[in-house]
Amino acid sequence: MDHTTNNAGVPVESDEHSLTVSPDGPVLLQDHYLIEKMAQFNRERVPERVVHAKGGGAYGTFTVTGDVSELTRADLFQPGRRTRMLARFSTVAGEQGSPDSWRDPRGFALKFYTQEGNYDLVGNNTPVFFVRDPQKFQDFIRSQKRHPGSGLRDHDMQWDFWTLSPESAHMVTWLMGDRGIPRTWRHMNGYGSHTYLWVNAAGERHWVKYHLKTDQGIDFLTQTEADELAGQDADAHRRDLYTAIDRGEAPTWTMYVQAMPFEDAPDYRFNPFDLTKVWPHGDYPLIEVGRMRLEENPEDYFVHIEQAAFEPSSLVPGIGPSPDKMLLGRLFSYPDTHRYRIGPNYAQLPPNRPVVPVRSYAKDGPMRYEPARTAAPYAPNSYGGPAADTARYGEPAGWRTAGEMVRAAYTLHSEDDDFGQAGTMVRTVLDDAARTRLVSNVAGHLKEDVSPPVLRRALDYWRSVDAAIGDRIAAEVNGA
Ligand code: NDP
Ligand code: HEM
Repeated sequence: MDHTTNNAGVPVESDEHSLTVSPDGPVLLQDHYLIEKMAQFNRERVPERVVHAKGGGAYGTFTVTGDVSELTRADLFQPGRRTRMLARFSTVAGEQGSPDSWRDPRGFALKFYTQEGNYDLVGNNTPVFFVRDPQKFQDFIRSQKRHPGSGLRDHDMQWDFWTLSPESAHMVTWLMGDRGIPRTWRHMNGYGSHTYLWVNAAGERHWVKYHLKTDQGIDFLTQTEADELAGQDADAHRRDLYTAIDRGEAPTWTMYVQAMPFEDAPDYRFNPFDLTKVWPHGDYPLIEVGRMRLEENPEDYFVHIEQAAFEPSSLVPGIGPSPDKMLLGRLFSYPDTHRYRIGPNYAQLPPNRPVVPVRSYAKDGPMRYEPARTAAPYAPNSYGGPAADTARYGEPAGWRTAGEMVRAAYTLHSEDDDFGQAGTMVRTVLDDAARTRLVSNVAGHLKEDVSPPVLRRALDYWRSVDAAIGDRIAAEVNGA
């Protein structure tokens, strides 16, 4: 059997006994090994993610099965390419130990280790979101987390914020329906949610939306099943993914995009950059891109999942952001939180390290262990250090913009409003049984400690989504 060592590799004298003066005597300060154990333990945690704290993930492979080379020059999406990747799934509002079966959106974060650096697609299991301006994200999250006074999650805060922010209606309808509690992470879809820009080798541009459809089939938990599961196994979804991969049942998802020609955006019936809207499939059909397969459990949960740093700003040549204000806000937020949560050299850690050489001019900082691979610590230099390849990569994936600086809502397109697409979902996508579960989920939620003025606004909100569904919710809340 191997012998235990301390962190410096020196053999230790005992796994069990501290160094004392006689068997009953005081513990000695010179017991360096005891001190190392205690001190390391005291520093074991990094701060949990401010949102999406509870999650799990696995490594896998993305294989291109379609041909989207006319839409993007991104290396990872060229025909036949196989790219190693990492996925992390999560709930949003709960803390590290919270139940996986709480009603909440699920994070669907992907990192592709491509030949042109890491590409991160940090999405959710929903194609839309609650707000459309990053100015409101922090307020939104505070309304969903614990009340500062009681320390409890608080339905009054949730409905207060939602009803004062009617742009949330589409996402809330989604959340309160069957998709609000997936049976497992394997049984849910992922969506990039935002609109992104794809640029092909000829410089032609398309706006795209990503869809990752589960090959296991969509499945959900009813509210009652989820409540029971929360008590039985708070880690049910983490366990399910881990054990499925362990059994050799690697889950797969098929990736599609919807692609909108660049010039269509100004006249499209919905503002194509508004994160509270989908592009109906009838307008822009799904185009197959490839398949993601998760086949490898992390060797160490903390190293590979807790320290994984996903960031929407990590885009590769051929892929750019869009004017979606939420996305532009997120480009700053994630690397910033990683520098705080993990440290400024987080990119050197195993789950974040690219598979291609890093030749950046960044240097030093806490916990840096990889030497800078530049001939001189500045650019330009005359000692053979790297130089940007502007001929190949000099053209940013972007768009022309000009105008006055303002603080204003998006320009409305012909069919833009806050409730229309939510109403379409209720009336045309859900069947009778799903509508009945939606009514029961919303009414059950509203019956728990929601104050009378907020409740009145909530019933109006649902009547704006759909008059009939609003009346049914009102009747159930009022006990009719
Ligand atoms: P479609 O009939 O072409 O698409 C409806 C889509 O709704 C389905 O393809 C499925 O998407 C999704 N869906 C099915 N059941 C549920 C459910 N219980 N809860 C949530 N989503 C469900 O119509 P449109 O594209 O014209 O969209 C109509 C409405 O459907 C939209 O207003 C939106 O609310 C919703 N929707 C639209 C999506 C889109 O990107 N166009 C995506 C998802 C929902 P999937 O296969 O992706 O699960
Ligand atoms: C996690 C901010 C909107 C998906 C996070 C984290 C922050 C954050 C600070 C913690 C990251 C970490 O510690 O590693 C924001 C801001 C938003 C926003 C400022 C809006 C302005 C969204 C949207 C989506 C999303 C719209 C989905 C489309 C995720 C996911 C994670 C996450 C999946 C977890 C990533 C992981 O698994 O590590 N977000 N977020 N967020 N966010 Fe957002």
